[in-house]
Amino acid sequence: ETASKEGYAHFMIKEIHESPKAVRDTISSLMSDLDVVEKISEEIRQAERVIVTGAGTSYHAGLYFSLLLTREGITSIPLIASEYYNVKGKRGDLIIAISQSGETIDVLQSIRKLKSEGAKVVSITNVIESAIARESDYKIYMRAGPEIGVAATKTFTTQVASLLFLYSYAFGKDWKALKDADKEVEQAINATEGFAKRVGEELAKKQNIYYLGRGLSLPLAMEGALKIKEVSYVHAEAYPAGESKHGPISLVESGFPIVFINDGEMPELLKNNVMEMKARGGKIYMISVNRKLGEAELEIFLNSKFPALSISPVIQLIAYYAAVSKGLDPDKPRNLAKTVTVE
Ligand code: G6P
Repeated sequence: ETASKEGYAHFMIKEIHESPKAVRDTISSLMSDLDVVEKISEEIRQAERVIVTGAGTSYHAGLYFSLLLTREGITSIPLIASEYYNVKGKRGDLIIAISQSGETIDVLQSIRKLKSEGAKVVSITNVIESAIARESDYKIYMRAGPEIGVAATKTFTTQVASLLFLYSYAFGKDWKALKDADKEVEQAINATEGFAKRVGEELAKKQNIYYLGRGLSLPLAMEGALKIKEVSYVHAEAYPAGESKHGPISLVESGFPIVFINDGEMPELLKNNVMEMKARGGKIYMISVNRKLGEAELEIFLNSKFPALSISPVIQLIAYYAAVSKGLDPDKPRNLAKTVTVE
């Protein structure tokens, strides 16, 4: 086990550092398989509804994709896989099922139900010929390599990269630019270690944290909150930043930590929310891409063509350092399993 960590203290940090390669291999595999990408793109454009399903981290990648689709005017439903009974499938539906392992029972159940009601299935998995892939009409395989750490890291970044590729291809965006996506991920990791360590150590001492973001930053805020909860056992809750004034702000008092995800799209709107939190004494940590926001106790600023891909390793590193500073083993969080095969 020590050998396979290749000098890293934990698999989690090793796997975060493997993210650039995982993204590079995945993008080049998609680029060499454009026939499948083309067919799936047509299905997405023609579908009456695109239902995007997944569990845990994979659901967050799915929510990100679903938002990209609704921004293009596509009717898309992000579906937490275990809540499959809330959606009645029909002919004309396309399901995009996202699962690192390809074995999560909740995801299998959701595709089985919707398929039996007439939907077609596209799966995005990291494990070849997994149960979910076998039940799909179209398959995309990520090339992230094995992930040992229970908390998903490089596979989340790779899911986001695959989905961004699919979206860009299907809607006439510059999908070829994604061949450099790995460099953005690598730069983010290199620029972030110091910031992430400081923020992680500070957050580890807290009882509660908010992760706030607007638009495409919301799924990343959700993933940031999930990750730190999973490995450091600090309670964290993600909220759409604008919605945080409708309730969550009542908890904020002097020193309450709030991590803002600022992907550069709506910095002015986000700033309103930052000021509201600051006025109550909130301690602001900021992950900013392309547009600096200021007003934070600590802010990391990154430039990136693909903000989500740069933000992803930052939230993971914060969670990692929070766990490590509490003396916890982030590779084996209590009560969690890598693959969950019971409903
Ligand atoms: C488990 C893991 C999570 C993971 C989820 C979905 O609950 O602890 O980290 O996100 O399963 O896994 P999947 O293999 O379907 O992506």
